[in-house]
Amino acid sequence: MLWRHRRRPRWWSELSGTPRGPAMSGLTVSGIGAGITSGCLDIGDGRHIRMRFGCRAAHSTSTAATTIAAAIGVRRVGRVFLPVHCFSGDNGCMDHRQAGRYWEANALAWTRLARQGWDVYRDAVNTPAFLDLLPDIAGKRGLDVGCGEGHNTRLFADRGARMFAIDIAPTFVRFAAEIEQTEPRSIRYAVASAQELPFAHGAFDFVTAAMSLMDLPDHALALQEIHRVLRSGGFLQFSITHPCFSPPHRRLLRTPEGQAYAVEVGRYFERVDGRIDRWLFSAAPQEAKAGLKPFEMPVFHRTLAEWLNAIIQAGFILERVAEPKADDETARRVLAVEDTRVVAYFLHLRCRKP
Ligand SMILES: C[S@@+](CC[C@H](N)C(=O)[O-])C[C@H]1O[C@@H](n2cnc3c(N)ncnc32)[C@H](O)[C@@H]1O
Repeated sequence: MLWRHRRRPRWWSELSGTPRGPAMSGLTVSGIGAGITSGCLDIGDGRHIRMRFGCRAAHSTSTAATTIAAAIGVRRVGRVFLPVHCFSGDNGCMDHRQAGRYWEANALAWTRLARQGWDVYRDAVNTPAFLDLLPDIAGKRGLDVGCGEGHNTRLFADRGARMFAIDIAPTFVRFAAEIEQTEPRSIRYAVASAQELPFAHGAFDFVTAAMSLMDLPDHALALQEIHRVLRSGGFLQFSITHPCFSPPHRRLLRTPEGQAYAVEVGRYFERVDGRIDRWLFSAAPQEAKAGLKPFEMPVFHRTLAEWLNAIIQAGFILERVAEPKADDETARRVLAVEDTRVVAYFLHLRCRKP
């Protein structure tokens, strides 16, 4: 089922909460800095209203939070998070909708190449490792965040989960939903952003996000949103490019014989907020890539400490961590993924909502 814009399906009203009521009790602010500030207003009974503000200059978090709280008539300022937007250097700043427009432009070529089997890191390394780490999901209600063309969502549904899936790019959602016509699995798809999930508190038993949370500007806000829509005792499992081994500078080093033996990394502490990288799946042959414009991918780099602190601040307990690598047989069969054996390219995390 596909939801876009004003056409809301029946499950929308089942899952989405309408915050109302006078008891404004606290304000949680994440993402203060020059550009955009996100806020979450606690209106009591565990209900929240999400807000975004434009800021012309970076202020201290407490000053900005107090100003915002006063402006909207909130008496007590609740937890104030550390700044997550400190736009610097030549990155500019990009919000999730702008980033989503890049993904929308990538969706056709991405889907075509991925369905021809050229997303080899996903198929040979990431997805098998992700499934290995996944607890039993049979009969559980799950949400796949940043589902792309739906490949992993279908695998979760094949494990018996009742799946919902969202992506910010309508074309990805359309391609994913089309497969429901020919191979129905009762997956419900919607166009939505991880930073503004259109679901009620506690709506899901688990949430998955395969290689999507690092592709949006406010990962801390997305983690808070996911925490909100999970029931108590539910879990989030997600994968990202490894923040330590895929920082803004990364270069694979090879022996004269062409064997990958090391990865040069640098600029780890540099905040990247929407730098555009251009590439197509490196394993795809020229004939597969012919006529396709390179993907334009907005990159948002955060350090490992920022990721872990965002998980903790969202209220999760970290449960399992994995750094997948290709095994001997896979590395022989799929040459392109040999670099996953030099240092970890990906990081998988499972977190529990207490
Ligand atoms: C690297 S792709 C991964 C797709 C899919 N999970 C997979 O493993 O094949 C990243 C996905 O995140 C989506 N995305 C980016 N920003 C998003 C946001 N704010 N909310 C939801 N999805 C987003 C993109 O449209 C894209 O489909």
